Amino acid sequence: MKIFIDSASPKEIKEAMGLGLIDGVTTNPTLIARENRPSRELLQEICSLVAGPVSAEVIGLVATDMLTEARELSGIAGNIVIKIPLIKEGLKAVKVLSAEGIKTNVTLCFSPSQALLAAKAGADYISPFIGRLDDISQRGMDLIKTIKTIYNNYGFNTKIIVASIRNPMHVVEAAEIGADISTIPFAVIEQLIKHPLTDLGVQRFLEDYKKIPKK
Ligand code: E4P
Repeated sequence: MKIFIDSASPKEIKEAMGLGLIDGVTTNPTLIARENRPSRELLQEICSLVAGPVSAEVIGLVATDMLTEARELSGIAGNIVIKIPLIKEGLKAVKVLSAEGIKTNVTLCFSPSQALLAAKAGADYISPFIGRLDDISQRGMDLIKTIKTIYNNYGFNTKIIVASIRNPMHVVEAAEIGADISTIPFAVIEQLIKHPLTDLGVQRFLEDYKKIPKK
């Protein structure tokens, strides 16, 4: 499973890239707004830090506006992927962008029918938001399983990005299901690494090492 970082913070992205395990980045308007900088220069900086795909979202709600924004955003760097919301106009825009060879990540997916249509429109990535489904007492991970079955049934090439991840178990379950990608907030990436027994074990080994006679 590939791992993306779900962040627009160059500081977090640099630190996560230092692990050597990060394959890409996803941003959204909320994450960009947190950085309090013009989005174009921020995205330019992020793209210079990462060789893999960097998702940047359009704001327009009609296909023609989305297309103008998408073409403008894709001029920022070769690794930009255009994030398009899963609405009727978004699907129209994805179809056109797919024909133009501009990569798309269809976002705000909450149902299997939406995911099926995004794949038919030619989306490169689909982003089902599992945490937001869990938040309203629906099983987000069930959506991932269903989408995977549908995509396998018809051989769609659209990659599933498990999004809106809230905790390490979401990542483990995504990997069990065989999702293509998890996009993970920085804090959860750190949680994936940590285990109290590992820390305790390291501490004990260091203490015992000191007891070994040096000569
Ligand atoms: C994914 O592409 C989104 O940026 C993100 O995962 C949304 O997560 P949230 O529900 O925590 O805002």
